Amino acid sequence: METINPLKKSPIGIFDSGLGGLTVLKSLEKLLPNESFIYFGDTAHVPYGSKSAETVIRYSKSIMDFFMKHYTKAVVIACNTASAVAYDYLKKMYTIPLFDVVTPSVEYSIKISKSKNVGVIGTYSTIKSKAYTKMFKKLGRDYKVKEVPCPLFVPLIEEGWVDTSIAKNIVETYLNEFQHDNIQSLILGCTHYPIMANTIQSVLSNKIELIHSGKTVGNKLKDFLIKQNIENSINSEPSVKFYVTDFPQKFDELGSRFLGRHLKNVSHINSV
Ligand code: DGL
Repeated sequence: METINPLKKSPIGIFDSGLGGLTVLKSLEKLLPNESFIYFGDTAHVPYGSKSAETVIRYSKSIMDFFMKHYTKAVVIACNTASAVAYDYLKKMYTIPLFDVVTPSVEYSIKISKSKNVGVIGTYSTIKSKAYTKMFKKLGRDYKVKEVPCPLFVPLIEEGWVDTSIAKNIVETYLNEFQHDNIQSLILGCTHYPIMANTIQSVLSNKIELIHSGKTVGNKLKDFLIKQNIENSINSEPSVKFYVTDFPQKFDELGSRFLGRHLKNVSHINSV
């Protein structure tokens, strides 16, 4: 008789500094409709994007300890800042299969590459780490990678101002940096940016492809689960549980905006 690998039914962990990572969860749910997920949003400590690498590593480590106790079969670091500054450290410390959002977007960008010019936008900490530039080098690609921080995008998106003329002005001002670079793709290196993708695309040539972390990491995770034979192909009732370290103002509004539905099954967990 065939034995079923018990890992097939185990949930997948996904974490972010707050609620922005729900954009990544949304993509994962679409690509892996039979999987169960545990989403951890460190809402008491958000934003990570302006904090030091040491602090983000400390928070991320505690979240990994949380997932270890919940027997997740893999963990996705949805937060670009945590992926950029903490992934290498966490990968060495934990045996659990771990997915960052930097590597798959760089791999995808190389795959669709027509020229060697690529743009990346993200938080201050992500851009300061140069994680994307380093990843292109690590993969043996001599690309011209221009990384630009866009710190005003997160508050604009959280205010729900993505379709306003103010947002368009701000997007134009930041992206003006790429004017002379002839980039072939722009990596959206922050959980929030997919929400503003239309505004971002509207100020760029439509030949420039926007790369979404949720999709690239989702495809990589899916391949991994299939190869390891631990994908859940028959789960008729996948569950999603949410854990947050705080209930900030506008929690429901933001949660619904990023995930596209009301958040159910939400538990508070003391700050890690
Ligand atoms: N989740 C963060 C990221 O993707 C954005 C919000 C923050 O600064 O914590 O970099």
